[in-house]
Amino acid sequence: MTKLIFEKSKKGRICANLPEIEAEENKEISSLIPKSFLREELNLPEVSELELIRHFTELGRKNFSIDSGFYPLGSCTMKYNPKINEQISRIEKINNLHPYQPIDQVQGALEIMYTLSEYLKEISGFKGITLQPAAGAHGELTGLLMIKKYFEKIGDKKRIKVLVPDTAHGTNPATAAMCGFTVVELKSNSKGQVDAETLKENLDDTVAALMMTNPNTLGIFEEDILTISGLVHKSGGLLYYDGANLNAIMGLARPGDMGFDVCHLNLHKTFSTPHGGGGPGAGVVCCNERLEPFLPVPILKKESDGTYNWDYDRKDSIGKVKAYYGNFGMYVRALTYILANGKEGINQISKDAVLNANYLKEKLKDTFDLPYDIPCMHEFVLSGKSLKKTGVSTLNFAKRLLDYGVHAPTIYFPLVVPEAIMIEPTETETKEQLDEFISIMKKVAEESATNPEMVIKAPHNTPVGRVDEAQAARSLNLCWSTSCN
Ligand SMILES: Cc1ncc(COP(=O)(O)O)c(C=O)c1O
Repeated sequence: MTKLIFEKSKKGRICANLPEIEAEENKEISSLIPKSFLREELNLPEVSELELIRHFTELGRKNFSIDSGFYPLGSCTMKYNPKINEQISRIEKINNLHPYQPIDQVQGALEIMYTLSEYLKEISGFKGITLQPAAGAHGELTGLLMIKKYFEKIGDKKRIKVLVPDTAHGTNPATAAMCGFTVVELKSNSKGQVDAETLKENLDDTVAALMMTNPNTLGIFEEDILTISGLVHKSGGLLYYDGANLNAIMGLARPGDMGFDVCHLNLHKTFSTPHGGGGPGAGVVCCNERLEPFLPVPILKKESDGTYNWDYDRKDSIGKVKAYYGNFGMYVRALTYILANGKEGINQISKDAVLNANYLKEKLKDTFDLPYDIPCMHEFVLSGKSLKKTGVSTLNFAKRLLDYGVHAPTIYFPLVVPEAIMIEPTETETKEQLDEFISIMKKVAEESATNPEMVIKAPHNTPVGRVDEAQAARSLNLCWSTSCN
């Protein structure tokens, strides 16, 4: 068993040589710190540089990441984060900026934000934009607050409902409820899509908006989208586009052209910036002219002399939604990604993402149940129902996949598919990697039939076995021993 860093500690062992601080200076510094914050004993591990490096390298190896293995987590677009993004974002003149610097010193940073904004407007088909929100869910909150303010402005107080399809991500109804709307669920039809007739039955003058993801979370493109957006607008409502699945349609279709009024784009999915434990996100919000006045302040403007400036003078704005100007480092990475791929490349990304998903779907559909057997977009949803014959649940199946060195797909979502296994390979994987995943999926299906006990007890090879996932997230204990609680 590997020793923890505290257990390796030996008094006096050090891994850095720092210059001595003069006694006087030392006193001066400590006098600035309130006494209650000072400790006599720090109880830090004392180790050599090599021991420290081994400790962190080992911790890094224990963590699964896109750089270490296949990560087909449906709806999350765990695509490769190109290293050039990191190199550019670490350029000193970029990463040493401070948001309080005077505007004439940060024109380059503003140009980065402005240029990125222009590309994202073009890709999504909208006129207005804010880069501020820090995540997709935060973008949803921003967009729905704008919709709310719009109805307040036009004096329409009746519109208290938001319609959400039953395939939607949980953040959609949660956000609508947080904004004070009543959430009404729309049942999808046998094709896994929003049904125009069901929509009509639910549309009246109390509906503020319909929130949709397209392609939806089953990986299916909503073929009636123009009819749907026409119906919502005709009844006086607005349409929110959840852009989590934009990776399937870049350069092929645009939410603005589908009739949506406002959308969020997840830079940490579609535009290759890190997410999860990998860094902060960015849930950029784009909108049409009708909703533009309600965008958060400040809005970035390009003046006639070519300089950039912030516009705070916007009386209908919902206000600020994020400290400073958002997660700037993510804007640098996303712009690098767009420029490195170019117009054709961005288009090809989506085509390849769709091709990879359809390849996996076709190869796996004879081994697993496929509830919606139609061409998919960038992801598709299988059901692990048939595994249950031998008592193996989808959760057991997913845990066994970990033993083969791949991350499990998203499971039990979307809720409309029992024992859902949602697979999104992304465009960055090779055919060899996809074939390896297919054979792992088939192998675990076979094990589930012939040796269910072993699958039920999986994982067997991972650094940590099964954890109580809810407790692990809510009461995470990062202490090395209970004595430091
Ligand atoms: C369809 C969909 N909508 C919204 C979100 C929320 O995005 P974020 O995790 O950036 O808040 C997700 C996240 O997985 C998603 O898949």
